[in-house]
Amino acid sequence: MTTTAELLERYRNALPSYLNPLHAEPISIDRGEGSYVWDLEDNRYLDWFGGVLTTMIGHSVPEVVTAVQEQAAKVMHTSTLYLSEPMIAFAEEIKAVSGIPDARVFFTASGSEANDTAIMLANQFQGSNEILAMRNSYHGRSYTTQAITAQRSWSVASMSGLNVNFVQGGYRLRSPFRDLDDEAFTQACVEDLVQIIDMATAGKVAALIAEPIQGVGGFATPPDGFFGAIGKELTNRDILFISDEVQTGWGRTGEHFWGYQAHGIVPDMLTFAKGVGNGITLAGVVGRKEVMDCINVLSFSTFGGNPLSAAAGRATLKYVLDNDLQGNALRMGQRLTERLSPVIDRTDWIAELRGKGLMQAIEMVHPGGVEPDAAIAGRLLDAAKDRGLLVGKGGLYGNVIRMAPMLAITESELDEGVDALIDAIEAIS
Ligand SMILES: Cc1ncc(COP(=O)(O)O)c(C=O)c1O
Repeated sequence: MTTTAELLERYRNALPSYLNPLHAEPISIDRGEGSYVWDLEDNRYLDWFGGVLTTMIGHSVPEVVTAVQEQAAKVMHTSTLYLSEPMIAFAEEIKAVSGIPDARVFFTASGSEANDTAIMLANQFQGSNEILAMRNSYHGRSYTTQAITAQRSWSVASMSGLNVNFVQGGYRLRSPFRDLDDEAFTQACVEDLVQIIDMATAGKVAALIAEPIQGVGGFATPPDGFFGAIGKELTNRDILFISDEVQTGWGRTGEHFWGYQAHGIVPDMLTFAKGVGNGITLAGVVGRKEVMDCINVLSFSTFGGNPLSAAAGRATLKYVLDNDLQGNALRMGQRLTERLSPVIDRTDWIAELRGKGLMQAIEMVHPGGVEPDAAIAGRLLDAAKDRGLLVGKGGLYGNVIRMAPMLAITESELDEGVDALIDAIEAIS
């Protein structure tokens, strides 16, 4: 039987060096069920990362598995050249939940491609290649999305053909405005935006793209209403707002179905990926008809709207709605915050707990300040794993632990994870 150690050697020999397993002692994942996964040696882990928020509702959820199996047996691929019921039905369902009036949906194969598409549409619609993005953002690995990503460790190059400026965003811990209260913080960021537009652009900006809660950036969370305040300045200047909901979508934040809904703004376009297919490749853009229709050449994404992924997406969305997983994310998220807060408050190497619903993170620093401590984050990641809990890493300096349990997590599974994490924190302290 193959072992984890053998797999590691094969991984090293077959994949490029910039791909790295998360843990110092890498683990394999052989199978999963609900909130749990098992490695090749049959060790069980509680999965609070879902392969980066992508297994969203639970592993091997029977309703999704059956939908995929049935569709696979029928037809797996058609393309948008033919009328495919799963694709059209799923587009209708996304239109209905998007909150964007009379929307249109374009399916893609990845979040990067979805953001590429949104930026291309904004450029075309506005006749401008000027884009605003937020500091500490992550929008993908294509050339275009690297150019709108503001994290040095993820940008190989800045060649994109776009003219990008980065404005102050919701990463408060390292913001020059960190000492301000919510209202003053938001106002300071709005003023920064206005200055950037007036001082650094040629005046005709196509769009601002932002994650309502920055995912790779370590779940950096601005105050509610932040994007509404930003949006007023955008509207005054006819600048489009693109909400990158790749991590925040489908109820994960608990309070709302989409991250943008905490802010009193409706985006012109929103992008989705990751959890929408509960692990099956699926992504896209949903936006205002006027903007979505602005392309006047042929445009097509081979795998976009693929019936197999559409079947997975439909079954996942149905499960989320039928089982009120947004409500569960709210309740379980509150429990997570309540149980972790006292421990974070008394741990001098953890600067803060932040995020919403089932999307929460802690940031590791050297005690007494905010100097990042990536080493201790790595130790905590492994200590949690040794106690049977898988969490993720992230943040600008790799010093943030990200927690993103399955949206269907039960109270006892949540408590099991919290107990493991607290034990790991106390062991390190
Ligand atoms: C907010 C956000 N946007 C876009 C992407 C890119 O998605 P993909 O990796 O599917 O290209 C990611 C991936 O982590 C993301 O977190």
